Amino acid sequence: MNNILVTGGLGFIGSHTVVELHNVGFNVIIVDDLSNSRIEVLDNITQITGKKPDFHQLDLKNKSDVKKLFETTKIDGIIHFAAFKAVGESVEKPLDYYENNISSLVYILQEIRDRNIDNFIFSSSCTVYGQADELPITEKAPIKVAESPYGNTKQIGEEIIRESCAAYNFNAIALRYFNPIGAHESIKIGELPLGVPQNLIPFVTQTAVGIRKELSIFGDDYPTEDGTAIRDYIHVVDLAKAHIAALKRLLNKKNKTNFEFFNVGTGKGSSVLDVVKSFEKVSSKKLNYKIVGRRNGDITAAYADTTLAKKELNWQSEKTLDDALESAWKWQQNQS
Ligand code: WQD
Repeated sequence: MNNILVTGGLGFIGSHTVVELHNVGFNVIIVDDLSNSRIEVLDNITQITGKKPDFHQLDLKNKSDVKKLFETTKIDGIIHFAAFKAVGESVEKPLDYYENNISSLVYILQEIRDRNIDNFIFSSSCTVYGQADELPITEKAPIKVAESPYGNTKQIGEEIIRESCAAYNFNAIALRYFNPIGAHESIKIGELPLGVPQNLIPFVTQTAVGIRKELSIFGDDYPTEDGTAIRDYIHVVDLAKAHIAALKRLLNKKNKTNFEFFNVGTGKGSSVLDVVKSFEKVSSKKLNYKIVGRRNGDITAAYADTTLAKKELNWQSEKTLDDALESAWKWQQNQS
């Protein structure tokens, strides 16, 4: 039975990945500092899988606590989600982001180095591409100067891992997520934004349920068909399954180089107005929205070329935008 450490395992993508790891027979150890997640998620995961994962509340910036964790736990692989991830907040508090996202990564990699752990999956982001010159975006697209400290921590993180794999001869895969949305079919786990949602989908569902008065659409003057910006919205369960595919690739030693990276999206671009239309269809609700100015740092369009993940990971997304929005809506209605 492979013991898999999942950092940030009570978070949005982490919790869905823990469920999928259980589903295929892995034994999961969760580490989370609860700075952007809730302890109830542990029980919700247990209700779905019928097995309570080991849980350690831990600040991964505390080097001695990280060392103690690895001394007391047998770990065969690691999926590292734990990081601060709010783009806007990272612009206001860059040093918090560099300290948290980089030092926690370094301390984990030092344990991997010292204990010859060989399988490391890193949560990266399409943010590393900035506004790509060509669409859909392949893994060959150049890395652009980061638009935010958050995006920079993902770029720096990948470089630290690449150099560590070469120097210490271990294997890692970075998954570059596009826009994760939706919720598990059980509606027991989903996206739990703390405070005013920064991301589009939770703002849409909170508007539909009456928590927010109306959605502000940030700009309809982009050079796109309907003027609103385009993203690749991927169901979080499909994204979770991509982590299983990547982990199995490493465990089965199918990787071709010691550091690989893959775009994880649907390959389909949807505009903000496409999302609104799809949401209104699946929820049978009219959504209150207004068009306002563009948001600083936003790009016009991003959607994935999914060829490499399909070929090398034998993975592709299965759920549609409607599926994802329907699950997000059911999840929102289920919130107290
Ligand atoms: C999507 C679209 C907004 C809110 C972010 C991170 C990225 C990744 C995914 C982690 C944009 C528009 C949004 C609103 C709006 N996260 N929008 N009104 O910015 O594409 O990417 O999440 O890896 O790193 O940057 O996602 O959901 O914030 O925005 O019109 O109230 O919706 O302008 O076009 P984004 P988002």
